[in-house]
Amino acid sequence: MTRELTQLQILRELEPVAEQNLNRHLSMAKEWHPHDYVPWDQGRNFAAMGGEDWDPSQSNLSEIAKIAMITNLLTEDNLPSYHREIAENFSQDGAWGTWVGRWTAEENRHGIVMRDYLVVTRGVDPVALEEARMIHMTNGVASPDDWGGFLENVAYVTFQELATRISHRNTGRVCNDPIADRMLQRISADENLHMIFYRTMCAAGLDLVPDQALEAITKVLTHFVMPGHGMPNFRRNGVMMAKHGIYDLRQHLEEVVQPVLKNWNIFERNDFGARGEIAREQLAAYVEKLEGDVLKFEEQRDKLLAREAARGQLQPA
Ligand SMILES: [Fe+2]
Ligand SMILES: [Fe+2]
Repeated sequence: MTRELTQLQILRELEPVAEQNLNRHLSMAKEWHPHDYVPWDQGRNFAAMGGEDWDPSQSNLSEIAKIAMITNLLTEDNLPSYHREIAENFSQDGAWGTWVGRWTAEENRHGIVMRDYLVVTRGVDPVALEEARMIHMTNGVASPDDWGGFLENVAYVTFQELATRISHRNTGRVCNDPIADRMLQRISADENLHMIFYRTMCAAGLDLVPDQALEAITKVLTHFVMPGHGMPNFRRNGVMMAKHGIYDLRQHLEEVVQPVLKNWNIFERNDFGARGEIAREQLAAYVEKLEGDVLKFEEQRDKLLAREAARGQLQPA
């Protein structure tokens, strides 16, 4: 007979683990300053202060680098919505409250440094960026269905932090600027530590209430959408990012889903009851389907890229 606990009981039971995990995080996290990652000497005034407004010719970023930077920055900008979700589901008491505050402060740094970089280097149109931020933040978080409770939230953020880490890291590569690459590597290192905190908490949830936790994990994974869901052009930009290997289905499967499930030992554990076993079967079917989808996606992508390359060759030199 497996246990069934309320939200409040789970939070109370796991608080000592949260405290341990918080202390571990604080000992691992490196202090860093956004201003050290921005090439201020590339900056100059805009027209309102006697200079020149943005023009596409000023940007050194490729189209795909622009799209990836904007998508990742708008995701970071939406922090108040994520803060609300986490604060509601993790509570504000004791170690939970300290974590929520600390995590929020660390995340805020990501938006600060990326915006400073993009505005100073004139990498993207600052007016369009501001308009998109207004729309995205006004919409708030578009969480799929109504994910409620600690377990679903902690499962979602585990996968989301890892996905964000990969997306930032690969965006750094396509920027073709060592300064951007260094900045995004710095952010990725933060996302990795966040992921470890959430993954550890979710593992503790699995040990405490295996069936409840696996049901939450299965629900979250089978409904997974990236956090930028709801921002202007999200679908089109997501397709572009997948096409250029910044965040695609294989990365989602092999660098996010599988390593985390392996870390939790999902397919080898023997502490599930009947409900957990059903969830585990659903999860196994989902992973299998994803493996097929990866191959289909790559086949289509290869064809598309080949067609684009052929078209490029036909253009007059
Ligand atoms: Fe972040
Ligand atoms: Fe993060």
